Amino acid sequence: MSRNTVRSNGSFSYKNIEELKNDIERLDLDIAISNNLDVFKKTITIGEHTIPNLLTTHPMEGGDSDEFGRPTELTFRKYQRMARGGAGLIWLEAVSVCKDGRSNDKQLWITEDNWEYFKALNDLIKSSAKEEFGEDYEPKTIIQLNHAGRYCKMKGKRNPIIATHKDPLDDAIRISEDYPTVTDEYLDNLVVRFVEAARLSKKAGFDGIDIKACHGYLLGEILSAYNREGKYGGSFENRTRLMRDIVQRIRLDKECKGLLLASRLNIYDALPYPDGWGVSRTKGIKVDLEEPKKLIKLLAEDGVRLISTTMGNPYFIPHINKPYDMGNYVPDEEVIISCNRLIKEIGEIQQSNPEVNIVGVGYSWFRQLAPYVGAGSLEKGLCKLVGFGRGSISYPNFARDIFKSGEMKLNRVCVSCSKCSEMKAKIGTCGCVVRDSKVYLPIYKDMKSKEVETNE
Ligand SMILES: Cc1cc2nc3c(=O)[nH]c(=O)nc-3n(C[C@H](O)[C@H](O)[C@H](O)COP(=O)(O)O)c2cc1C
Ligand code: SF4
Repeated sequence: MSRNTVRSNGSFSYKNIEELKNDIERLDLDIAISNNLDVFKKTITIGEHTIPNLLTTHPMEGGDSDEFGRPTELTFRKYQRMARGGAGLIWLEAVSVCKDGRSNDKQLWITEDNWEYFKALNDLIKSSAKEEFGEDYEPKTIIQLNHAGRYCKMKGKRNPIIATHKDPLDDAIRISEDYPTVTDEYLDNLVVRFVEAARLSKKAGFDGIDIKACHGYLLGEILSAYNREGKYGGSFENRTRLMRDIVQRIRLDKECKGLLLASRLNIYDALPYPDGWGVSRTKGIKVDLEEPKKLIKLLAEDGVRLISTTMGNPYFIPHINKPYDMGNYVPDEEVIISCNRLIKEIGEIQQSNPEVNIVGVGYSWFRQLAPYVGAGSLEKGLCKLVGFGRGSISYPNFARDIFKSGEMKLNRVCVSCSKCSEMKAKIGTCGCVVRDSKVYLPIYKDMKSKEVETNE
């Protein structure tokens, strides 16, 4: 990416809260600010699970498993650092539910043969947090279960599994018009795969599971399979069937009893109809939250009370998903506008679904000012928990510093340089090249020296 890396308009330059407030006023944005960082210290109880504070890590796929999907030293290291960092909810990255659903050969994949490694990972998270904060402290853990759909790779080669054709996304990864879509039978069977993975996650000790339906992956793609024939395409009921079947089957499953049911869900794809979900059918890529709101209500009835909302497709329009200062194209809007979209529309979802606990996203870009923006969102009721994605790998201690010293330190924050994303796209394995340079800079340099061709 570095040969083509470009700077976004309106890159981060605020020296203090006042400068940020002036910009919010200038652009008439919905971003709220609060100095009351104690708001993060509240707890939240969902069913039998109490999350000890309102800060969470977002899932960050690190591509550091072995060939069998087992976590390795790098995986253990990453989560131990996060556990010691004090976030009340540690939301683990995308873990595949089946071999052909992996995003690459280094993606975590939970199986009957390796669940004990995941148990060791969960145990490490819990024990490290206790060592740091005392015996009575226990962060909650959610494992993200996924099928990578059109972004599957095997043995280094693309192995797309698509539910429907989407011209712009097909073109981007060279899927031809006659490439077959996945059968209903495959999808029926996927329900079983998710239930099995949920059982193993429960056995491994995780507090909850996330049924991932976002970012262009299989379950996210089906939500906008308007043109698919059969029981998983067309009507709202059909397009949401797979996700709801999975949730309902897990909820009824005896071996999954007590699991906190959660989902990482796109509320807006930013692709025009009929390729996008959460998008107006007549007005280009205008946001239309009617269907996402309806789905969230149904999921809540099915027992899903924790939803981490997100937008866009990181492979195709990353600025919608993770607003950046440096990336491989210049977005057609200032970066703060992209953050505002995330915060505002997620707020709209939270306010129309007060019974659901929504995790907000869009905070890492605000660097040292992020805690004030997050606190503002909580106070204004725009979400019930505040999450950090890139911020959690660049600065695993972010929560501890917010609680102990009332700040996020300037020399630790994410600078939204997109190097971790570049690594994820090119070699799978990724981490923070800037703030965790001892480990990830050599891997990044090695990748650059080999000039691995990207096809993301
Ligand atoms: C390298 C990288 C890996 C990611 N992996 C995942 C993932 O496994 N699952 C997921 O739901 N989102 C994933 N995301 C998206 C983040 O969870 C988050 O939504 C995004 O980075 C925006 O939040 P931030 O501004 O706090 O970084 C990833 C993002 C990056 C940059
Ligand atoms: S490499 Fe580090 S600083 Fe750069 S975007 Fe990723 S997390 Fe942020």
